[in-house]
Amino acid sequence: MCGIVGYVGGQPALDVVLAGLKRLEYRGYDSAGVAVLADGGLAAAKKAGKLANLEKELADRPLPTGSTGIGHTRWATHGGPTDANAHPHLDNAGRVSVVHNGIIENFAALRAELADRGHTLASETDTEVVAHLLAESYSSCGDLAEAMRQVCRRLEGAFTLVAVHADAPELVVGARRNSPLVVGVGEDEAFLASDVAAFIAHTREAIELGQDQVVELRRDGVTVTDFDGAPAQVREYHVDWDASAAEKGGYDYFMLKEIAEQPKAVADTLLGRIDANGVLALDEVRIPSEVLREVHKIVIVACGTAYHAGMIAKYAIEHWTRIPCETELASEFRYRDPIMDRRTLVIAISQSGETMDTLMALRHAREQGAKVLAICNTNGSTIPRESDAVLYTHAGPEVAVASTKAFLTQLVACYLVALYLGQVRGTKWGDEIHAVVKELAAIGTQVEQVLATMEPVRELARGLADKNTVLFLGRHVGYPVALEGALKLKELAYMHAEGFAAGELKHGPIALIEEDLPVVVIVPSPRGRSVLHDKIVSNIQEIRARGARTIVIAEEGDEAVVPYADHLVRIPRTPTLLQPLVSAVPLQVFACELATARGNEVDQPRNLAKSVTVE
Ligand code: F6R
Repeated sequence: MCGIVGYVGGQPALDVVLAGLKRLEYRGYDSAGVAVLADGGLAAAKKAGKLANLEKELADRPLPTGSTGIGHTRWATHGGPTDANAHPHLDNAGRVSVVHNGIIENFAALRAELADRGHTLASETDTEVVAHLLAESYSSCGDLAEAMRQVCRRLEGAFTLVAVHADAPELVVGARRNSPLVVGVGEDEAFLASDVAAFIAHTREAIELGQDQVVELRRDGVTVTDFDGAPAQVREYHVDWDASAAEKGGYDYFMLKEIAEQPKAVADTLLGRIDANGVLALDEVRIPSEVLREVHKIVIVACGTAYHAGMIAKYAIEHWTRIPCETELASEFRYRDPIMDRRTLVIAISQSGETMDTLMALRHAREQGAKVLAICNTNGSTIPRESDAVLYTHAGPEVAVASTKAFLTQLVACYLVALYLGQVRGTKWGDEIHAVVKELAAIGTQVEQVLATMEPVRELARGLADKNTVLFLGRHVGYPVALEGALKLKELAYMHAEGFAAGELKHGPIALIEEDLPVVVIVPSPRGRSVLHDKIVSNIQEIRARGARTIVIAEEGDEAVVPYADHLVRIPRTPTLLQPLVSAVPLQVFACELATARGNEVDQPRNLAKSVTVE
C-alpha cells in the first residue's frame, strides 16, 4: 500500500522517480506526487488520481531539474484522495518534504501539539505531522538523519518515511517500521523504494532494511542506523529477476501476462525441489526434521487469495500427513486467543510478504512458541524474514492487483510442504510421494492446455457483462476454488459474486436462485471419490430446475454433467487434491474478461492496492 521512491545520483531525479513510480503504481493509485531538490530549494508537485494526472501537471508546469528527489503513489488511509492529501507533504517553510506508507496511530495528538506551537497543517493526513516535526528537529540539530531518528522515536504505528531537506542537497533519508523499504546501490547513485521493481532498471544490488532503521542515502554510499543512532546490521542481496519481468511484454494487462505465465511459474516453484529419485529436497526449510516430526497441529494464516490457497492446503496436509490442520484468516487469528505451543507449526502464506494482518498473526504465533514457515513470493520481504523458515514460490513479480500466478504457485508450495511433512514423518512413502510429484510435474502442461481453450469462456463472460450477480459452487477442494472465483469477480468486475459449499445450498443460498442467474459449478472428478461427484451433479440439477444458468467446469470425459450444463468448460484430468491448479484458471480468465467487457481497469481495480500494509 503506497509506493515510495527516493533517488540521489547523476541522473535527472524526476525522470528516475517517475519511472520508479510507474512500476509501483500497483501499490496504490489514489494520487501521486514528487519533490526534487534543485537550485538550493525544494520543488514539489502532486495530483489526485493516477500517475498520468501528475505527469500531465508536470508537462504543464515543469519542475526545475535536480539530481535528488522523492516520489509517492498513494492508497488513501487518512484523508480522501484529494490534491491536498496527496504526498509529498511539506513543512510551513517549504524546506522539508516527506512521503509515507503506513499509518501513524498517534497522529491526532501530534497534530494538536503542532497546532499549539503555531503550525498550520494543510491536509487531513497523518503524514503531514512528520514534515512539521522533521522541520523542527532539523532546525535544532542540523542533521536530517538525526532529525528523522528523533521523530521516529515519537511515532506509533507502521511507517516507511522518506524525506529530503532543501538545506541538505544530495541526501535522501528513509526510515522503516513494519512497512517495506529497500535500498538500491548503483554506480555513483542510490535508490530507496517500497519494492525493487522501482529501481531494477538501474541496479540489481539491493540492501534490505530491518525493523526500526534509518538510512542515509548519498551518491557515494549508504549509512544505516537504528532509531538511536547505533550502526545497524543489514542484508545485501542481488535481485535475480530482470526488468523485463516487470513489463507487460505485449499483453494489454499485467493480469493477462501473469495468467499466461502460470505454466512456467508452476514449474519454477517445483524447480530444484525434487531430486532424481523423486525425493523432496526442501533444503531451505531450516526447521529440523526432529521438530517437524514432533508437530501435532498445523495452522495456516493468510488473507484473500492466499487464504483460499491455505484452505485447499488443509485438505492436502490432513490427507497426506494426518496432522490436524486449521486455516484461518490472518486478520481474525490473534484476536481470538488461539491455542498454540512449540509443537504447533504455523504456515503463513503471502505473495507480497508484507501483508500486515499476516505479519501480525505470525508474530503472535511466534510469541506463543509456535514455529512459523512462510510461503512467499517476495524475496527478503518482512514475513519470510520474521519466520523460522521460508519456501519461496519463485513466481516472478506479480504486478496486477488481482492475484493469479501467485495463487497457483502458493498451491504448489503448499502441496510440497504437505508431501515433505509426510516424507519426514513417514506417513507417506517414497513411491506415493513420487506418484504425486509426477502429477505435479505434469500440471504446467495441463494449465497450458486450459489456457489454449479459453475463447469460449471469454465469449461467455462478454455475454454476461450486464448481469448483477454470479454464484459459484464447489465441494471439497472445489469449495475454496468457488470462493476464489467469486473474489476475482468482485474485485475485477465489481459484481455481486458469492462462493458456496454446494452442500450448503439447501441450508439457505438456494433461495437466491432465480431465472437465468449464472451459477458456476466446479465439479470434482468422477474418478476417485465419486460420491462427491454424484452429489454435485444432483446440486446442478437442483439449481437448474429453479432456473439457474449453469456454467459447469468439469474434467474431460465426465459425461454425467453434460445434460445439465448450459455452458461446459473442460479441464484436464487431475487427481482430486490437485484439481484447483487447473479449475482456478478458467475462473481467472472469466473475471478478467468480464472486467474488460464492463469497461473496468483490470490491473488496478478501484479501491484496492496490491499489498495491504495496514491492518
Ligand atoms: C486478490 C488478492 C488479495 C491478496 C491478499 C493477500 O486477488 O490479491 O486477496 O491475496 O491481499 O496478499 P498477500 O498474498 O500479498 O499476503
